[in-house]
Order: sequence, then structure tokens, then C-alpha cells
Amino acid sequence: MPFDVQVEWAKLQEAAQHLRERLPETPRVGIVMGSGLSAALGALEDELRLPWAEIPHFPRPTVAGHAGELTYGRLEGQRVLLQKGRVHYYEGRSMPEVVFPVRLMKLVGVEILILTNAAGAINEAFEVGDFVLITDHLNAMGESPLRGPNLDELGPRFPNLNDAYSPRLRRLAHEAARAVGLELKEGIYVATPGPMYETPAEIQAYKRLGADLVGMSTVPETIAARHCGLEVLGISCVTNYAAGIKPEARPTHEEVLEVTKRREQDLAKLLRALLARL
Ligand code: HPA
Repeated sequence: MPFDVQVEWAKLQEAAQHLRERLPETPRVGIVMGSGLSAALGALEDELRLPWAEIPHFPRPTVAGHAGELTYGRLEGQRVLLQKGRVHYYEGRSMPEVVFPVRLMKLVGVEILILTNAAGAINEAFEVGDFVLITDHLNAMGESPLRGPNLDELGPRFPNLNDAYSPRLRRLAHEAARAVGLELKEGIYVATPGPMYETPAEIQAYKRLGADLVGMSTVPETIAARHCGLEVLGISCVTNYAAGIKPEARPTHEEVLEVTKRREQDLAKLLRALLARL
């Protein structure tokens, strides 16, 4: 069935209207907290909870470890719309569903989008627990969220993806990391369709293609965000070595959740320091 652009636009409008009626002010920064990281930031100031189930057409997550909540509030003086958890392509969602929350953020006024995720390390210089700033990506999902008729209201038919991960925001993130004494590495993220972890042969192939990190999210969101003109920052928490990178590297979901739990307070520290600089 061809993607119906009019229907998608109407759904987005309806959801945006629902949020606008509830938000006390226009959010400026959108944050998406990935696997196991949802609780990291705690409660926002004057927090308003916006249950996904009540937002028209908002896709529901199905994976354990993904809380599925949208909250609005202030943090470090910023007006923040915080998305705890995300829907993934591997859940069987269509790409327009996967990027629905990002487009919704744009429609309610968000200008800066911070995407976080858990990722496997392909680059052997990375260690489990590292935070890595995404500098660029490889889309190995085999699909684009922009395929089909263009949503002209959101952006151009052929958007470019140069500097998709904002150099300005990356500079500020490094400043923030220095200020709170955290190391922040940099790398190229490859997105795979999942839900299975990769084979060692696939990881070797991605390594030769230039990837430093591997995960199952973020890239569709970045593409949709750049399409509609959001400024994007991506931060990965390295939860494991990708398959075959170390002899013992056999990724499990338990390991991913265990490491994100262990690192979420430091991630919160980093994000707060970043918000204070935006
Ligand atoms: N591969 C894909 N996605 C991931 C990984 C991985 O090794 N770790 C966390 N998310």
C-alpha cells in the first residue's frame, strides 16, 4: 500500500494539537532517551506528564526496558520535551511510525533534538561504558523514513545530510563533558534493522565501511529531524563490544540494560551540563 502523505500529515496535526493544548509553553529542546536510559534525568521541574496512550496516533513501544512516556518541564533553565523510550523499526513499525515522535516535536516548536542510545563498539579504542558523540552515520537499515511522497510541509524532497550531527552542538557537548570531568569520544554510527545482533562477518564489513558503533535506532530519527530542520546531537553509551570484536563479545540485551543502568547518572550529568550551555 503506498504511503498516504495526507493521512500522515493529518495524524501529525491531530497529535500536535493535543500537545499544544496541554503544554504550558513552547519546548525548545527535545530529548530521546534510549534503551535502559529512560530514568536517567529523573523528574523535570514542574513536570507535566503526557502519556503516550493519550496522544492521538503516537506509536506505542513493545520492548522491555523502554518506558514509553513523554514529559515536559524545565531542566537547567531549558524548556524540555523528554521522550523516555522510543519505538524501533525492529518492532515491526513502519518508518513513518518510527519518526512520528520526532516530527511531532518539530510541530510543537522543538528546535534542538538530542538522541541517546545504547550501542555496540566496533572501534576497539572504545570501552564498555564510554560515551561517544555520533559524528556521522551509515544507514544499513535498508529503508528511509523519507521514502514515498514528500511531506512538503515538513521539508524538501531531497534534503542533504552533510553535518547531520550538528558541529555546533558537538562542540558544546565536548565543553559540557570537560566541565563535568567526563570523557566523550567520537565515532560513526551504523544502524542495522535488528532485532538480532549482527554476525561477526557483518561487523567486520561495517568496520571496513568506517563504522565505530552499531545500534538499531537513531538513524531514522536523525534523517527525519534533518528533513524538518531540527538541529541534532547523538550520544551513544557503549554497552558491549560488537559481535566478534573481542573473542568473548556475544551481545545480550541483559548486558545492554546492565551497562546503561550503571552509566545513566553520568549521562544525566553530561546532559544537564549540555542543557546549561544551549
Ligand atoms: N548491536 C546492535 N545494537 C546494539 C548493540 C550491538 O552490539 N549493543 C547495543 N545495541
